[in-house]
Amino acid sequence: MRRKKMAIGIAVVVLLVVCGVFYACCHGHAPASVPEVAKRPKGRVLIVCYSQSNTKSTLTMGKWIQQMTGGDLMEIEPVTPYPDGYAATVKQAYGEIKEKYKPALKPLDKTANDYDIIFLGTPVWFGTFAPPIRTFLAENNLAGKTVVPFCTHGGGGASSTFTDLAAELPDSTLLEGLPLRGPNVVQRKMGKGLEALSYPEDVRNWLLKLDLGWE
Ligand SMILES: Cc1cc2nc3c(=O)[nH]c(=O)nc-3n(C[C@H](O)[C@H](O)[C@H](O)COP(=O)(O)O)c2cc1C
Repeated sequence: MRRKKMAIGIAVVVLLVVCGVFYACCHGHAPASVPEVAKRPKGRVLIVCYSQSNTKSTLTMGKWIQQMTGGDLMEIEPVTPYPDGYAATVKQAYGEIKEKYKPALKPLDKTANDYDIIFLGTPVWFGTFAPPIRTFLAENNLAGKTVVPFCTHGGGGASSTFTDLAAELPDSTLLEGLPLRGPNVVQRKMGKGLEALSYPEDVRNWLLKLDLGWE
């Protein structure tokens, strides 16, 4: 009888611990909230981004920038999407980057010329920007504009992404870019763990340091 009571007691404790862990997982980390930025950059802001993977890390980062700057967001998409499989995309992308290929884009719903500050976001592909960005740059004249690059990557950092973009934009004013690790952006978006990482806050801190005439 004593043993039975003890077993029930242990079961209850285990259940409580399990529930506690479950509760902490579900509620302990509020979904990543995007910090408010009271000031606004001086000038009209457009956030242009290309995002290919299902998790849409670069687009998520672009949305954070949109909320913090009050700008307009435009996702660019190739007419023909990249293949579903990762390996097939890698193979195709490798050839395209080598050839400096410019895939046709779906019609854009905003005109870069209407804006003063262009945030330009891309996933890092083979250490550089993705081919749809090359098409965008060929078809939109960003001379005289302030361009702020940002990217997400799989762990290798920005590599040559920002310097390669700068080389394509000799007549624009390029500001310091921000690279974020894509999988972390996604986890933060879902509010799962990573308490030590404050990605939206990092974006905010980076933004406020940029020379955008905040007012
Ligand atoms: C074709 C291809 C090439 C990639 N090359 C790199 C790379 O050179 N360095 C790196 O850190 N990550 C690389 N990645 C990972 C992506 O940069 C990373 O997953 C990114 O966050 C995806 O962004 P998205 O969700 O906006 O598409 C590559 C991914 C693909 C599909």
